[in-house]
Amino acid sequence: MKLNIALLPGDGIGPEVVDQAVKVCDAIAKKFNHEINWTKALTGASAIDACGEPYPDETHEVCMAADAVLFGAIGDPKYDNDPKAKVRPEQGLLKMRQKLGLFANVRPTFTFPSLIDNSPLKRERIEGTDLIILRELTGGIYFGERGRKDDGNTAFDTCTYTREEIQRLAKLGFELAMTRGKKLCCVDKANVLESSRLWRETVQAMEKDYPEVTVSYEFVDAVAMRLVQWPNSYDVMITENLFGDILTDEASVISGSMGLMPSASKGVHTSLYEPIHGSYPQAAGKDIANPLATVLSAAMMFEDAFGLKDEAEAIREVVNKSLAAGIVTEDLAGTNKAYKTSEVGNWLAENI
Ligand code: IPM
Ligand code: MN
Repeated sequence: MKLNIALLPGDGIGPEVVDQAVKVCDAIAKKFNHEINWTKALTGASAIDACGEPYPDETHEVCMAADAVLFGAIGDPKYDNDPKAKVRPEQGLLKMRQKLGLFANVRPTFTFPSLIDNSPLKRERIEGTDLIILRELTGGIYFGERGRKDDGNTAFDTCTYTREEIQRLAKLGFELAMTRGKKLCCVDKANVLESSRLWRETVQAMEKDYPEVTVSYEFVDAVAMRLVQWPNSYDVMITENLFGDILTDEASVISGSMGLMPSASKGVHTSLYEPIHGSYPQAAGKDIANPLATVLSAAMMFEDAFGLKDEAEAIREVVNKSLAAGIVTEDLAGTNKAYKTSEVGNWLAENI
């Protein structure tokens, strides 16, 4: 099979971790007789530096022409401390989500048996955790009307959702639940917010189409608590953009390292695969960042974007093997030897 993949390394550790995923994908292609055509393009601070734009038109064209996008990370601290900065790397990410119509962010949280004691949560709390948060990604307060009034002394951001936007996300949630534990949790704040009441109403109306799925409706504040108390009681969770942003960061620590969890953003025009961690600028260029989240994102890409399940499984298998063999970066090494980012990538590619 011919696979056309857009490669967006981005900023900070992005290029380093993406390099390892490319090694792994190329090894998979060789083993399973595929041909991967990678097209690299700029995003984030590196794109601002090159052309003043965090998501240049040229990059958008590369993404539109590809079958899938593999993405590293965006962000550079030199913009964080400048409240007057006119362009920010993060705008690139938001523009990309909007222009590619990436409306559903799929963020799984699962545990690795060999790393269970790396989690800040007790073993008995997290054993068996295997949940997916499906975060709406192109609506809500992120993209609502915003501004200032009263001579700049009042600021507002509005959260708007249409029934259609909720339906398309919820549909994915129901379908995903059908392939898994058949449990769906709609996370909202329907005791206060009108937009949340529309979420609830819309999801309730869809229940009859999926009689096998058990649906619960829970308030986001309670979920923030239960997620660390009993993460293994959840299966698929659906929620709006900002709630999902917050809950997915919370969920990411359950597995023991931010450097482990992959994600997918499914869209109207294409789909994008990226690690959930950020650009980790302190580690940039040091060859110490954990590449596994990006490698596992590539596994999601093989499975979801190309329907290549065995290839995805082969990647997950070699990742588990590397963890069991202690071929890990410093975030997971403890007092044992820490391997470099590139060494982990080489080991994975050689062992496929
Ligand atoms: C994420 C990030 C982004 C978001 C930022 C960088 C705009 O935190 O992907 O979760 O808030 O969506
Ligand atoms: Mn976030």
